[in-house]
Amino acid sequence: MGETPLDQGIRAARLGNFEEALRQYERAIASGGDLALAARGHRAWLFRTLGQYDCALEDYRLLMEAQPQHEEPLVRYAETLLQLGRADESLRALAPILHANPLNPLATDLLIRHQEYRGLRPAAEVCLPSADTLHARPPLNRILGILEQDPTSYPGSSCRELGVWLHALVRLTRPRTVVEIGTLFGQSTLYLAQALEENGSGHLCSFDLFEHTSYRSPVPGVTGAMIDIVRGHLEAAGLAHRATLHAGDSSSTLIRQFPDAIASFDMVLIDGDHHIDGCLKDWQAVAARLAPNGLVLLHDTNPERSGWLGPRHLIENLRRHAAEDYVALDLPTPDGFGIGIIQKVGTGCAGTWKVSLREQLAEWFHDRRLRGRRT
Ligand SMILES: C[S@@+](CC[C@H](N)C(=O)[O-])C[C@H]1O[C@@H](n2cnc3c(N)ncnc32)[C@H](O)[C@@H]1O
Repeated sequence: MGETPLDQGIRAARLGNFEEALRQYERAIASGGDLALAARGHRAWLFRTLGQYDCALEDYRLLMEAQPQHEEPLVRYAETLLQLGRADESLRALAPILHANPLNPLATDLLIRHQEYRGLRPAAEVCLPSADTLHARPPLNRILGILEQDPTSYPGSSCRELGVWLHALVRLTRPRTVVEIGTLFGQSTLYLAQALEENGSGHLCSFDLFEHTSYRSPVPGVTGAMIDIVRGHLEAAGLAHRATLHAGDSSSTLIRQFPDAIASFDMVLIDGDHHIDGCLKDWQAVAARLAPNGLVLLHDTNPERSGWLGPRHLIENLRRHAAEDYVALDLPTPDGFGIGIIQKVGTGCAGTWKVSLREQLAEWFHDRRLRGRRT
């Protein structure tokens, strides 16, 4: 049997030829029957990838009408509404499924994202990048373009302004060894690796727990466990040779990977565990290996916006206890999360302060206040 229009559409989408994919899905839908239903599901997914949420919602709605017994179109419909920030409508859409089965895995997965959405950031404050922000300049590569269009990527991943800034810093300072703590879906990884590729030298080591299980890559053909997905993103961008991914707790894995503590890291992005203790452990592991004049970039230094105390605590303690060894700047970013820039200017004692009981308690209360509704 020859290829159906649906097969041709899926193949075109995998190759990034989205216009052709949409044409073939349209043909498959026009032919009717099961093929049409499957093609509509694929087309809705592609519409979401392309940021055409209204078209995706319409396809999911037609699928819900055609297959009222199937739960997936309804959950995807509710998920798309949440991506658009229409959280109340999304919950209303999800209600019948949860009513029928409160433990339905697809629906509970979405419910957890609702809780994160509401618990971490009150709905009114959630700031998806505006079309203006996203399209102010073209993406640095095709894969970054696709990832940035996917609303699930932000605000977990850096915004484009920060990514472009990281890229420029690598192009300017030409580091040989770059370390990243906190890979997530690989967005900042791609910015750093792209810059190393353009430099024609240097390597990135990126550390993460790689524990996310509900993420689905918007890059056609990229699937698997979290670490395979990030590797897939790097491969699709032609950058896999510039980056090595390390799975596990960042500070202990880093120490295992670089046991000799030679001052070889030229640039480090710390964007992993944002608790006071986690940040401090990452800092101590990194500081012992930082090259003279090496740079450490610290994401989320504004606790009011990010909800985390660790990065700000680190900056303030470096200023207080290790000012002879490090210059520490704390810059606002357009989305309010803040970025710290630390440069090793002295011999580089990491700082020997301890987290006081008072600070631990303050963090505990802070976490409860911000995330209380999740527990
Ligand atoms: C804010 S995200 C990183 C975003 C990414 N740098 C970007 O801009 O695209 C934080 C990441 O840190 C990881 N993380 C949290 N605690 C960690 C730990 N102890 N060890 C390694 N990774 C950790 C999480 O799994 C998550 O993927």
